[in-house]
Amino acid sequence: MNTILEVRNLSKVFGGGSKTTVRAVDDVSLSIEEGSTFGLLGESGSGKSTLARLIPRLIEPTSGEIIYKGRGLQHLKDRELRTIREQIQIVFQNPFSSLNPRMTVRQLIGEPLIVHKRSSGAALEQQVRDMMNLVGLNPEHTHRFPHEFSGGQRQRIGIARALILEPKLLILDEPTSALDVSVQAQVLNLLVDLQKKLRLTYLLITHDLSVVRYMCDQVALMYLGKIVEQGEKDHVFHSPMHPYTAALLKDIPSTDPDQRMLEQVSLEADIVSAPWSGVGCRFSPRCPAAQTGQCKTIEPQLIGLPERQQVACHLVHTIPET
Ligand SMILES: Nc1ncnc2c1ncn2[C@@H]1O[C@H](COP(=O)(O)OP(=O)(O)OP(=O)(O)O)[C@@H](O)[C@H]1O
Ligand SMILES: [Mg+2]
Repeated sequence: MNTILEVRNLSKVFGGGSKTTVRAVDDVSLSIEEGSTFGLLGESGSGKSTLARLIPRLIEPTSGEIIYKGRGLQHLKDRELRTIREQIQIVFQNPFSSLNPRMTVRQLIGEPLIVHKRSSGAALEQQVRDMMNLVGLNPEHTHRFPHEFSGGQRQRIGIARALILEPKLLILDEPTSALDVSVQAQVLNLLVDLQKKLRLTYLLITHDLSVVRYMCDQVALMYLGKIVEQGEKDHVFHSPMHPYTAALLKDIPSTDPDQRMLEQVSLEADIVSAPWSGVGCRFSPRCPAAQTGQCKTIEPQLIGLPERQQVACHLVHTIPET
């Protein structure tokens, strides 16, 4: 398997003054295999969309590296960056606000071809119709406007627009969270089909565990800008090691004796009611297992467990006192 994307120590700080700065993405490293689906999970505000925008450099990182197919993107000239951007596309969360309401479907799906000077005239028209077929839209409807479609159909338009340049890597930022539950499965099934047909790689952002369970090969959990646990989905789901992951997955019974201490974890406080002071483990204000010593004073690093996932938690890497 080849690595298609690698992110190394990527950070994004918003704001200037020290009081207003937000470390939206804080020293994140991850690696995605070609043809796989990498799930990025986390609560609202954990930095998922910021990370999504950093990858094709829609926003500029504060520090760190983005390596696509072995090439670092941070020093590319505009022209080279444009070519790479054709290969990395984002499908946005909300198909109601992300599609320009004044553009027809033909314009919406065809626009990237025009912007990237890839097609025009009758050829473009045909490509748009083929793409509409591929994503399950009626190609007779090219002159309709977004408001004439249902939510699920609108997200199909968003997917068509992202696929028209034949990208290799699709970043799906909560592709179904704005949709009715009954429609979500149809869109997810479409994405699974498209991945097989077009040999796509997905970075799938979601806060829905069932979506990760259904779609992903690898998973990373983000908490306040940092990845706190990542690895193969089966490892993480069978034996979540970080108290945060354990809390999110707590309905799934554990068979692993190493993590018995985590079994009773629940998240009573939220990010707002239990803010992080900026020192120690960022999850410690909410962590039922947190101890006073190092959890409050030393930031835990993401460390790999033998044959297993990586976890940033002092309690996992030191033998807990009983
Ligand atoms: N342009 C910006 N300027 C300042 N702060 C920002 C900006 N964009 C995002 N942030 C902040 O960065 C943090 C991460 O936001 P982000 O949108 O990446 O989170 P998210 O995980 O995608 O959340 P959600 O699940 O709600 O979509 C938040 O605290 C947010 O307020
Ligand atoms: Mg988001």
